[in-house]
Amino acid sequence: MLKGKKIVLGVTGSIAAYKAAILVRSLVREGAEVQVVMTALARQFITPLTMATLSRRPILVEFFDPENGQWNSHVSLGEWADAMLVAPATANTLAKMATGVADNLLLTTYLSARCPVFVAPAMDLDMYAHTATQQNLGLLRSRGVQVVEPGEGELASGLTGKGRMAEPDEIVSALDRFFCKRRSLAGRRLMVTAGPTVEPIDPVRYISNHSTGKMGYAIAGELAARGAEVVLVSGPTALDAPAGVRRVDVGTAAAMCEAAQREFASCDGAVMCAAVADYTPAEVSGVKVKKGGEAWRLELKPTEDIAALLGRQKGDRLLVGFALETNDEQAHAGDKLRRKNFDFIVLNSLRDAGAGFGHDTNKISILHRDGRVAGYALKSKREAAADIADAVEGYLLK
Ligand code: C5P
Repeated sequence: MLKGKKIVLGVTGSIAAYKAAILVRSLVREGAEVQVVMTALARQFITPLTMATLSRRPILVEFFDPENGQWNSHVSLGEWADAMLVAPATANTLAKMATGVADNLLLTTYLSARCPVFVAPAMDLDMYAHTATQQNLGLLRSRGVQVVEPGEGELASGLTGKGRMAEPDEIVSALDRFFCKRRSLAGRRLMVTAGPTVEPIDPVRYISNHSTGKMGYAIAGELAARGAEVVLVSGPTALDAPAGVRRVDVGTAAAMCEAAQREFASCDGAVMCAAVADYTPAEVSGVKVKKGGEAWRLELKPTEDIAALLGRQKGDRLLVGFALETNDEQAHAGDKLRRKNFDFIVLNSLRDAGAGFGHDTNKISILHRDGRVAGYALKSKREAAADIADAVEGYLLK
């Protein structure tokens, strides 16, 4: 699966840098193109000559070549790569990645990279266990960086514990698994609804909700990354459409309903993640309603339940729903699952810290129609999206 994949390998100043040479050789053997970027200190541990010979490309260390002034563009490197891997990743580099420090080519490349990023930490056991390092790793994970966990064993310091960089074979298989998974949904067409809807009251005012669209966008991105053709029917959000996803912008629940029905007709399934307004003003004033002394009674009428409508039309297509609950979570979610004819429903509870609107993290449970329930830990929305995509695969690839 690594054949033809372009990989930026960042090497930092750790004694484990010698393993980076074996890593390069394995990646090249698998057919990957490897561009090595080293920190200045990494050169003390392994020579650029070794790395250049194995990767068959000049090594990059500085922002420009001091001999001839040639500029090493971190932006184009970040765009070129299908994946960036930092191995070994020292506590220092992980801390800089977590805080956005950009004082070497490896870090500026990381900040410019649009591709998935992997890190393989390598350090002494106490440095690894330190709250600062663990918090930095947590932060990086929450932003979607994938951590290839270090192993336990004898460390360069002579101590024994967790901090040994994962073996090159393990790192290559982590990348391999990632790229393998990526194409699993090729040939499938999926729709995702996301974001809030906006129901106008008059030309100035509207009724909406706190949905930011982050969860739905992460799901659309994850499904597309696995090779699916994804259409994202989205209410207004501040987010960019994920790479490779076609976005259909809508405003009202009625517009979302129309677009969702139209798009679902040619799809193999849909994930209904949007926070659709349940009520909309019975009448929309054509002019701004003037302020007066008395109370203003606004009459609302129910909107169409898009998910339930598609549930009646779905046939053997996959339909996934969401439930955001505040109490009796499983009972309410189970009821929605049956009522709207979902195959499975993703439940989040507003009682869980870090779950729900606006957060970059989410804590989900998945309830299946056959009664199975799977609970997941608090994760980044991107990782939660991967769990949901795994469940989607469970149905579509049966
Ligand atoms: O009933 P409730 O709004 O909690 O159901 C949530 C699920 O139904 C979500 O999957 C949501 O996207 C979907 N839904 C919908 N259209 C509506 C209301 C909810 O698609 N009008």
